[in-house]
Amino acid sequence: MPNAVNLTSEIEKQLPAELVEFMQMSGLLASSREESLYLVGGVVRDLLLGQANVDLDLVVEGNAIDLAYRLGTTKQAKITTHPRFNTAKLQWNNWSVDLATARSETYAKPGALPSVKAGTIENDLFRRDFTINAMAVCLTPGHYGELIDLHGGKNDIGHKLVRVLHGKSFIDDATRIWRSLRYEQRLDFQLEQNTLGLLKRDISMLDTISGDRIRHELELILNERYPEKVLRRAGELGVLAKLHPALKAESWLTEKFKEARQLGSTTTTPAGLYLALLTYNLSNDDIEHLISYLRFPKALAKIIRDTEGIRSNLQSLADPELAPSQIYRLLYGSSSIAIQANLLASDSVVTHRHLQLFIDKLRYVKPALTGNTLKNIGIAAGPQIKEILQLLYEARLDGRANNKQDEEEIVKEWLQTGKQNKIRS
Ligand code: CTP
Repeated sequence: MPNAVNLTSEIEKQLPAELVEFMQMSGLLASSREESLYLVGGVVRDLLLGQANVDLDLVVEGNAIDLAYRLGTTKQAKITTHPRFNTAKLQWNNWSVDLATARSETYAKPGALPSVKAGTIENDLFRRDFTINAMAVCLTPGHYGELIDLHGGKNDIGHKLVRVLHGKSFIDDATRIWRSLRYEQRLDFQLEQNTLGLLKRDISMLDTISGDRIRHELELILNERYPEKVLRRAGELGVLAKLHPALKAESWLTEKFKEARQLGSTTTTPAGLYLALLTYNLSNDDIEHLISYLRFPKALAKIIRDTEGIRSNLQSLADPELAPSQIYRLLYGSSSIAIQANLLASDSVVTHRHLQLFIDKLRYVKPALTGNTLKNIGIAAGPQIKEILQLLYEARLDGRANNKQDEEEIVKEWLQTGKQNKIRS
């Protein structure tokens, strides 16, 4: 027996009883169909690390979709299938389990999505990114809990190393460059020496990956607990510059990411806030390049653009004489995350005060009179109403109107001056 490690007790200790029972039942059912079933990937790594992970990935030497339907009925689970890849997802209660057919992969050219064909668990493990992610646990009764570790993953976990399985790994799929840094920093591991050499050699392969796939990797990084560690390492190795040459991840960014986390002690820091800080020092042109390269969705692109828009107005916002209505005009319509990013980035006490005033108060200010009330008192629809509403907003913001009566006074005055102007002209 080349490998006698059995993870049954880790499984029972670390995974919820309902999932353990599900895995046992699945192994049994697969075996009755003369198929072998395995737990694979990140969850096996995390079982060995003693870290919580309930994202089960199962691989079957057989037919994943058929098996998923059989398993799904016993759990009354929602089943989603991808016949092209022969994969399925089962969802019930709060659980989600991915089921795939064991496969081998070949890459027609660097960065292309792989061609796949059904294979054995050995093939399936060999197609994976790093040794620590290329282990499986057998779920077949009789071999239940046995660790399949053909590439020394357990040993690498012991030595805290991220290691590729072969010399072409980053060429086949350069998203692994980003992934390697994500695992290295998350787990406090190191890139194994040869892997580090391959990564440096293959950095240019990042150009073979579509912007959408790179953006996905960036999103995964921004969802990590300490994204700044990954970005900093990417900066050191010249990987960050492949996103955009002007991006920097030095001590300023580390500091700002920490402060961003302190803002929301209970909620997770939105990826958009991290992104706004990461791109904070980029010029308008650089920002536009990055947005079109990574194809950010509208909401994220708006945050990045608004952050730059506010930054370009920071000098005006630092003027202590600024009236609330002027602050309002400078910030109105900006995303609140972009304002937060500028609050974190700017050092001026006055600017802070103005940004905070907008967030806490000014953005909620609204006159009591509306366009409709103005129409009802006989003001013709069109630019006049717009002009009066603007006056009312400003009066409210600057404290010249505090209630409906004050506003009516302002409208009366406006009407009188309007008439006088007409008589004069
Ligand atoms: N994988 C790979 N190459 C990639 C992406 C994924 O080999 N470019 C394999 C790895 O074996 C990985 C598994 O697919 O473990 C599942 O991928 P994913 O869900 O992205 O990662 P997890 O290992 O589950 O890790 P995480 O903790 O980041 O969720």
